[in-house]
Amino acid sequence: MYGLVNQAVRGLIIDQFGEATWEDVRSRAGTAESFVAMQPYDDAVTYSLVGAAVEVLELPAEKILYAFGEYWVTDIATVSYADLMSTDGTSFLDFLKNLDHMHSRIKVTFPDYSPPSFRVKELSDDRLQLDYYSKREGLLPFVEGLMNAVARHFGCEVTITHVDDADNPMPSKRMLLNYGPLPA
Ligand code: HEM
Repeated sequence: MYGLVNQAVRGLIIDQFGEATWEDVRSRAGTAESFVAMQPYDDAVTYSLVGAAVEVLELPAEKILYAFGEYWVTDIATVSYADLMSTDGTSFLDFLKNLDHMHSRIKVTFPDYSPPSFRVKELSDDRLQLDYYSKREGLLPFVEGLMNAVARHFGCEVTITHVDDADNPMPSKRMLLNYGPLPA
């Protein structure tokens, strides 16, 4: 993944646990101290960082990935890519429908990248089906954290349920999202 993803993992760990913990995580993972945002790195770098964070923080990978999804939205996307995250005239549902388009717009910036793909099906006013396609394994908790924070960004709250793998059109992962306005 591009360096900015690894750089964001670094940012999350430093913000929440401090520099010394980051140093511990990155030395266990055997990675550099920081990353070049616009340079592609092997996915193994990102997975090693998460693996080392699991050991150092004594937290399950799912929790770390979920927190990273939230952090990506609250501290990276809405800050550095505010125009892409604009809520003007856009709803949570519109934003999700447009995610593939958004990732393809930034292909200019990240020519070698491999973004995910999302298919959205409206089931009712407050319920949608989301199929997540990726060439990568294990990032579902990251997607959940992303969805939760994106919903909040659009003034919504969301509850995510997973549809059993057996019923899925592989290689995607299917989720059902119940959503509605955040309570005042
Ligand atoms: C607005 C700013 C955003 C930027 C600049 C951005 C950029 C990127 C980049 C560079 C990657 C790494 C892919 C690679 O290097 O091969 C990535 C991955 C990913 N992005 Fe985005 N993204 C943004 C927002 C979002 C949002 C809002 C979501 C979902 C709600 C999202 C979902 C994902 C997921 C799930 C991955 C992991 C890759 C995978 O599943 O295979 N991104 N994105």
